[in-house]
This record gives sequence, C-alpha cells and structure tokens, in this order.
Amino acid sequence: MENIVSLKNIVVEFEDGDRILKDISLDIKDKEFVTFLGPSGCGKTTTLRIIGGFLEPTSGDVFFDGKRINGMPPHKRNVNTVFQRYALFPHLNVYENIAFGLRVQKVPEKEIVRRVGEMLELVNLMGYEKRSVNRLSGGQQQRVAIARALVNRPKVLLLDEPLGALDLKLRKEMQTELRKIQQALELTFVYVTHDQEEALTMSDTIVVMNNGNIQQIGSPTDIYNEPENAFVADFIGESNIINGCMPEDCVVEFTGRRFECVDKGFSPNETVDVVIRPEDIKIIPADQAKLTGIVESVVFKGVHYEMIVDGVDHKWMIHSTKFEPVGAMIGMAVDPYDIHIMKKVEEE
Ligand SMILES: Nc1ncnc2c1ncn2[C@@H]1O[C@H](COP(=O)(O)OP(=O)(O)OP(=O)(O)O)[C@@H](O)[C@H]1O
Ligand SMILES: [Mg+2]
Repeated sequence: MENIVSLKNIVVEFEDGDRILKDISLDIKDKEFVTFLGPSGCGKTTTLRIIGGFLEPTSGDVFFDGKRINGMPPHKRNVNTVFQRYALFPHLNVYENIAFGLRVQKVPEKEIVRRVGEMLELVNLMGYEKRSVNRLSGGQQQRVAIARALVNRPKVLLLDEPLGALDLKLRKEMQTELRKIQQALELTFVYVTHDQEEALTMSDTIVVMNNGNIQQIGSPTDIYNEPENAFVADFIGESNIINGCMPEDCVVEFTGRRFECVDKGFSPNETVDVVIRPEDIKIIPADQAKLTGIVESVVFKGVHYEMIVDGVDHKWMIHSTKFEPVGAMIGMAVDPYDIHIMKKVEEE
C-alpha cells in the first residue's frame, strides 16, 4: 500500500511561543483507517488541521500522494473534514445540506440528484430529503454531516471526534456504520478520538499522542499487548504501573520482591516502569504468594469483579471472576510474560 498522506517533522508553535506539536512524523497509507488517540489538549485537532490545510506548520512538510502540499488551501486538497460540531446549515433541508458542496462547484443538476441520492442511500437517510436538519436526531444529523463530507468524493476523510455528542448505544452503531462506509468506498479515514475503546474497535492503525508528541504507532493489538511505555499502557486500558528495577536480564524487582519476567537488555539495576494489567493478576491463597494485600473495595462489572487491593507499597487493581469480600487478605500471582517492563519516559 502506498502512502497517501505523510507528515515530516511537523512543528507547530503559536504566538505565545507554546510548542503544540513538537516533531511529528507519520505516514498514512491509502485506504487505511488511522486514529489519533490521546488526552484532551495533546494536539489531535491541530494535527488534523495541518492535514486539512486549515493551519500551516511552523516548520516541517506535508505530502499528499507523494507531492509536497504546504500552502495549498483546504478546498484544493483532496481531503474533506467532518468537524466535531457538525455545522450543518440550519436553514437548509437534508437534501440541500448534502448538495451544498456540489452546487458551489457548479456540478450539473442531474449529476447532483444522482450523487445526493447515492449518499442518502449510503448513510441510510432515504425519505428524509425534505426534512429540516433541526428536526433530526443527533445520530441523523451526524449522518448528514458524513454524507455532506463524502459527496465531493475526497480520497481522505478527516473526522474529529464525530461521535462525541452521541449516547453510547448510538455511538456503537455509528462506529460499525462508519467502518462499513470506509471499507465500501475504499477511502482513507483519519479519525480523532480520546476514547480508547472506540480506537481499538475501529482502526487499522492507532497513533497514540501525548503532549504534542507521538508515543506509539501500531495496530490495535500491538498497542494493547505491547505498549512501548507506561503512558501508552495507562492510556490504553487500565493498568497497574509500579516503579521497579532490573537487577539482571529476565528478573525484575518491585515492592521489595524479585519476580521472573521475559524482558532483557536493560542496564544493571536500571529503573523501569512495571506494567501489569488487572486481568492478568490471579488470586491465590495468601500463604502461597509473594504479593499479598487486603481487599479494599469490590465492584461487580457484569463480567468480572473489579477489586482494589491494598498491598501496602501499591494499591492493585484486579479484575477477577472470583469474588473476595472487603477486608479479606488475598495472595496475587502474575505469570512472567504478563509482567511488562518499560523504559521510563523522559519528561520534557
Ligand atoms: N490558535 C491557538 N492558539 C494558541 N493555542 C492553541 C490554539 N489552538 C490550539 N491551541 C492549544 O494547542 C493545544 C492542542 O490543541 P488541540 O486542539 O490540538 O488538542 P486536542 O488533542 O484536539 O484536544 P481535545 O481532545 O480537547 O479536542 C491545546 O493546549 C490548545 O490550547
Ligand atoms: Mg480536539
């Protein structure tokens, strides 16, 4: 697959001197579903605006289909955007909202009828043509916004938290629909969310961002199973993150005890972040365990119990199908390959 969009060493500074994007380089492949994931303020929207042409980088280059496109205005880019606030035209009906971009381009009326019809079918809004957009549900408005962005047949669609305003059930439905549309039309989608579950279920590739930097780029399974640092591990799913050190290869020390692990290549006694997922901690009898603690809280989550266990040096979060009452002293065991060792992230 070829790269459709490439960012090379993108830096964005605003007038107050704040560096919002620090040095972003990234290749997006044709027909790929790529998601920017990260906490509020990390630079996701700014990165989209760079790709869309709404903002020029302070330094660095933007490529589209191998050509440098710095300075090219948004409407000349083969890219369209669905903004977080859909910004539909309130005085126009569904049909005219979708047709708007085609009218601006002076597309012949017959062609408009055909293309708007295609879009209505695609987003499942046949029969709603004459409806005022003010009398649509949030999900329906979102569909109009998507149809309006796709009717110009961009090669790349940028979507900035497009489902943020919808309730959970509708959101899940729209996630599936968006993925279907992307695959049916063979488009490249660049999607922004701060919801890790949404990112994991929809994407081919996830770009985890924090603080104007890319933390990791990978497939959902890579990001979940092999997070490269404690930030990614913490942001993707809940994790226990403990300070530790590596006395030797495949041995890690934390909470004053030594454990077998599978990681190597650290310098002797290098301090590390030890990451253990709540579902990887097994409850065993306390007298057989290196790790023990007292159950501090138990919440039933439908499939498992979520327990906080006070281990003196660390409060552990455990997901288990086994119930233990508050106040019980329990033992905890973790398999060596479920103990993830990570280099400390250098703070800037
Ligand atoms: N025009 C601007 N001038 C100065 N600072 C800005 C400007 N636009 C954005 N910022 C700052 O840049 C940082 C990144 O903003 P951005 O909108 O890219 O974040 P985000 O990751 O999209 O966050 P959210 O999830 O809240 O939408 C924020 O700290 C924001 O305050
Ligand atoms: Mg944003």
